Amino acid sequence: MNLAGIVLAAGLGKRMNSSLPKILHILHGVPMLQYVVDTLQKLKPEKIIAVVGKHAGLIRDSMQNPGTLSYVEQREPKGTGDALLQAVPYLKNFHGTAVVVNGDTPLITEKTIRKFLTQHRRKKHVLSLLSFIAADPGSYGRIMRDKQGNVMSIVENRDATATQSEVREVNSGVYAIESKALRLLKEIKMNKATGEYYLTDIVHIARGKGMAIDAFCIGSEDEFIGVNTRQDLDKAGSLMKFRIIGKWCDHGVTFIDAGSVFISANSFIGQGTIIYPNVHIEGATKIGRRCAIFPNVRILDSIIEDDATIKDSTLIEKSIVKKKASVGPFAHIRPGCTIGENAKIGNFVEVKNAMIGPDTKASHLSYLGDAKIGKGVNIGAGTIICNYDGFKKHITSIENNVFIGSDSQLIAPVTIGQGSIVGAGSTITKDVPANALALSRVEQTNIEGWALRRQKSRQYVVDSRQQRTKRKRNQKAKK
Ligand code: UD1
Ligand code: MG
Repeated sequence: MNLAGIVLAAGLGKRMNSSLPKILHILHGVPMLQYVVDTLQKLKPEKIIAVVGKHAGLIRDSMQNPGTLSYVEQREPKGTGDALLQAVPYLKNFHGTAVVVNGDTPLITEKTIRKFLTQHRRKKHVLSLLSFIAADPGSYGRIMRDKQGNVMSIVENRDATATQSEVREVNSGVYAIESKALRLLKEIKMNKATGEYYLTDIVHIARGKGMAIDAFCIGSEDEFIGVNTRQDLDKAGSLMKFRIIGKWCDHGVTFIDAGSVFISANSFIGQGTIIYPNVHIEGATKIGRRCAIFPNVRILDSIIEDDATIKDSTLIEKSIVKKKASVGPFAHIRPGCTIGENAKIGNFVEVKNAMIGPDTKASHLSYLGDAKIGKGVNIGAGTIICNYDGFKKHITSIENNVFIGSDSQLIAPVTIGQGSIVGAGSTITKDVPANALALSRVEQTNIEGWALRRQKSRQYVVDSRQQRTKRKRNQKAKK
């Protein structure tokens, strides 16, 4: 079956009151246009053409996995009819069905479009539209049928009479047009009130020529929401959230309070994982199986492998947390980190551009930046890697099975050799050889009885001060 997908995405989106093109507004972490293109890709069309406006470069840069997507420019936004006309020269050698979708309808599903195309083909129509019954028809185009139920035309809300406005069967903005009928686009006349060429006018033109057309009223209203305003965007966001949460629930993920979490549309969560309240999973994050993500955690563009635990109030950015590792509470994993298998990054630990080996532990209050840390290392509480000399960042290497005592500072660049020990409170400025003890603190001195002597001398000062005051008081009384 020959299929081409065309997405109309060149409108100004004035009602959004935004400098960003409407179709690039973000819905659950993904631009609206991406949803429509992804849905069309699933239908495996010969090609997908997006008709875009003056922001073509920005749109191109924002799209992921473009596949068969190509772009056509509509220089001036002269309406949806004119937008589709711009794609026609690129369909010259195409013979089949063009499925046209508005770029501002991100919730439309592959399943509904497939159903629609099956009906269109079964009935051998030249032109079909996908309609739905709207609770409030609002700004949607109304489907006009004659007494026999034949579709005659679409009337836009702004042009509708009071009676026409009451019609609740409306246009979703999805059309199936046989390639031979695309020539009708040239016959669309400019709407005098708006100066635009309405694609919807193709319906009465085709009807006037006695062509086989119809509207198929399938799918649910929630699927066809056309995002014209920021309120529409908010509504579409709520619907998308339910869809995403529902998908992961079906996949075997438990949400303790689904209403409070944010899961981006392009993230993945493995079976048996538990997501606690107020968790934000953003970007292209992949979470493995049987993980626990505790409250107030935010994970961005990261991979969390199977059986990992991310404890409360932790931020993880562009990093990898390997199997069975534990991060948090109150940890910050900044971009470029790998936290090794079964490793532990604990309370108030910040890690940046660092490889943390398997079974390594940094349980409390540390900064580990620009570091390569081996396996089985113990990083004591309060350890700071001093990676920045005010001009440049330097690397610190901590080899396998090293023990770093609490409150140590490691001044980069420095290497701590395998199996060595850094005594608590040390400032390490030179490389430490394997299996050595490195100590840099001042040696401790104990002075026997010093504290008692101090106490006694203090008491003497207090006593003599009191006696002096008493003497002065007595002398005054005698006078
Ligand atoms: C359109 C339909 C309406 C339908 C509704 C469904 C028309 C005239 N009206 O109305 O019947 O019920 O969608 O959501 O088609 N665009 C261009 N170039 C332009 C103008 C628009 O590419 O010059 C694109 C927009 O970027 C958008 C799509 O076409 O993605 C629809 O345009 P929009 O202005 O949102 O039309 P609606 O008023 O929603
Ligand atoms: Mg719209």
